[in-house]
Amino acid sequence: MKYVSDRILVPQDIRERKGSFFTPQQWVELSQKYISDVLGEDWQDEYYIWDCAAGTGNLLAGLTNKYNIWASTLDKADVDVMKDRIKNGANLLENHVFQFDFLNDDFAKLPKGLQDIINNEKKRKKLVVYINPPYAEVSSKDIKKEQCPNPRGIWILYTNLIPVSIYYTIRHIIAFTWLNDRDQFLYPNDGWMNDADFQNDCLTFTIFNTNIQSKYGINHWIPFTEEDAKDNFESHFMVDYIKDKTIHEESAELFGELTKKHKALKFSDEAKAVFRTGKKLWQYYHSQPTANVNASLYDIREFFQGRDDNGKMNNSSGDTQYNELIGDLRSALKTLSLKIQPKVYEYGFLVK
Ligand SMILES: C[S@@+](CC[C@H](N)C(=O)[O-])C[C@H]1O[C@@H](n2cnc3c(N)ncnc32)[C@H](O)[C@@H]1O
Repeated sequence: MKYVSDRILVPQDIRERKGSFFTPQQWVELSQKYISDVLGEDWQDEYYIWDCAAGTGNLLAGLTNKYNIWASTLDKADVDVMKDRIKNGANLLENHVFQFDFLNDDFAKLPKGLQDIINNEKKRKKLVVYINPPYAEVSSKDIKKEQCPNPRGIWILYTNLIPVSIYYTIRHIIAFTWLNDRDQFLYPNDGWMNDADFQNDCLTFTIFNTNIQSKYGINHWIPFTEEDAKDNFESHFMVDYIKDKTIHEESAELFGELTKKHKALKFSDEAKAVFRTGKKLWQYYHSQPTANVNASLYDIREFFQGRDDNGKMNNSSGDTQYNELIGDLRSALKTLSLKIQPKVYEYGFLVK
């Protein structure tokens, strides 16, 4: 394995841009060594690599096969820096570098080559989502090398589901202002680690807010059992995770190492209200003759709300019962987020 990293990238002034948590060179080299230890010397030729939180691209320094590498990130300015770097010799392909919000954007926005990989089961298994995530400090602690992407492309594991949910939640419940915008999120203190209530509130918020769509793969986010559905779900991961159950091997593909026993989660009253209102919505959806048994919340919303001529999902539905049920769920989620908000400051994710 060759490391040519320092030569490829980064004029110093660009590297030291304020507030972007660049991946230090040592981490870059060590992480690539770990991957190569696990996947083999030739991993760069045998696997596809996607850094979906690429920032200005440091993590990809030293990789040799640019045809197998994709790099995307949230801010256009960072994409521009990466493109500049390509002009200065960085070993990346211009067409493989693009702006993409991995939490909110649709896979349809991805370059075709990457879509082909994701939509092809065999190739998808060869996709390494290689990132130093925003909040790297929170979630990398538990990250294992055999991690796999969830249907949206984020690497979520049995072991990092809680940190990922916290990250997802705090980014969604605080309105962005010029003061607290994105990169102002800070390395938190340890308080969140012992606050199971906070952790489970965030998990609940995430479960009922993801944009997971079952058409992109197995929906591992169904928080209910089949009692009201017409058939078996493809995955019982979330219910098993919540209850005190061994996680089955069938979920391993998406959630990594999963055979551990796990303590049953206890939920706050606010979180329970979300589950209760969410369940009514699920029940109503599954009473529809054409219900898809593995539907996600997004699929359910799409089913009732439909899309306009431009393909955008409508804001509401002609079905009054659905409107009432989703209204109840939203209001329970609002109460839950108001409960979580002060802790975002208490644990130092944001400073007031
Ligand atoms: C820890 S930094 C990674 C830095 C990168 N490896 C480097 O060294 O430049 C995380 C990056 O993820 C980006 N990011 C944050 N949220 C994102 C999102 N939802 N989608 C895509 N990128 C995101 C941030 O802008 C930041 O550049």
